Amino acid sequence: MAAFATRVILWQQQHGRHDLPWQGANAYRVWLSEIMLQQTQVATVIPYFHHFITSFPDISALAAATEEQVLAHWSGLGYYSRARNLHRAAQMIMQQHDGQFPESYDEMLALPGIGRSTAAAISALAFHQHRAILDGNVKRVLARHIAVDGWTGDKKIETQLWDHAESVLPLNNIAAYTQGMMDLGAMICTRSKPRCSECPVRIDCVALQQGRVDKLPLPRPRKLVPEKNSTFLLLLSGADILLEKRPGSGIWGGLWCPPQFEDAAQALKYCEQQYGTDTENSHAMPLFTHTFTHFKLHISPLQVQIKRPSFQLQQPGSQWFNVREALRAAIPTPVRKLLLLLDK
Ligand code: ADE
Repeated sequence: MAAFATRVILWQQQHGRHDLPWQGANAYRVWLSEIMLQQTQVATVIPYFHHFITSFPDISALAAATEEQVLAHWSGLGYYSRARNLHRAAQMIMQQHDGQFPESYDEMLALPGIGRSTAAAISALAFHQHRAILDGNVKRVLARHIAVDGWTGDKKIETQLWDHAESVLPLNNIAAYTQGMMDLGAMICTRSKPRCSECPVRIDCVALQQGRVDKLPLPRPRKLVPEKNSTFLLLLSGADILLEKRPGSGIWGGLWCPPQFEDAAQALKYCEQQYGTDTENSHAMPLFTHTFTHFKLHISPLQVQIKRPSFQLQQPGSQWFNVREALRAAIPTPVRKLLLLLDK
């Protein structure tokens, strides 16, 4: 039987993906794609990737952009610290590496937002270096192939999988192998309904032999997801809406959002104190829930129309936007949904 890696490479060459826009591209594009593909599916990423590359065709263009512009290109992709880190890393590459993406794995790891698996993917795909990746998809492929009993986020299991990933690397064709492992995870060894009959490594897949493919890897131990309620104040003055820039770190860091309150009473108190509105022109829009990885946010949107006095001082960090203009700014997905409702 051919080695594990040889079978993966042959399969990738015949059945894997060959037309992804970052394949065979320079290190900047490979890096950008790997960051966008963390936690996000290929089909979602492709239009964002093209738009981003059109606006920021190289590292120096990205470094010269404002954080605001970079976040606006990320609007809707989620996990916005990825965009802030990418921007900071571009500036570090300009200062420390003469604008050239570093070829050294250790220098990549020193950049913000690049962890062990991402550095390995860039090393293998852009520079043909002998490195093992271990993202969520690859963990599943390997965990099934050797039938690891445990949750792949567990430190001990993770170490075992890293060791195994390094032990099966090929001597040649590292880029095709790396892409093959990603493609296997995305196309064949999927979480549900895996297509084992088409798998190039089914012959020695232990989970398949044991009839446990649908059980492995074991899921993350269940934890209660915390839930939070928040009233989003949609303060409107004609066709304009008041938005606040969120603090640089944490959820939606650096993005524009409506002012948020614990409940409608607090929101109305703020309106009265700041703008002296009476509360009759307010109306509640339907509640909806936004799910993050670690908690659920129940959003109660409250729409309040005001006449904005011309002498009104703006609070620092807040800004009136035309609703259409706000749709092109750095806003998270639930805010986009609300603005689209208002724009109807
Ligand atoms: N997921 C992470 N990196 C990827 C890549 N280069 N191609 C396809 N899916 C991926």
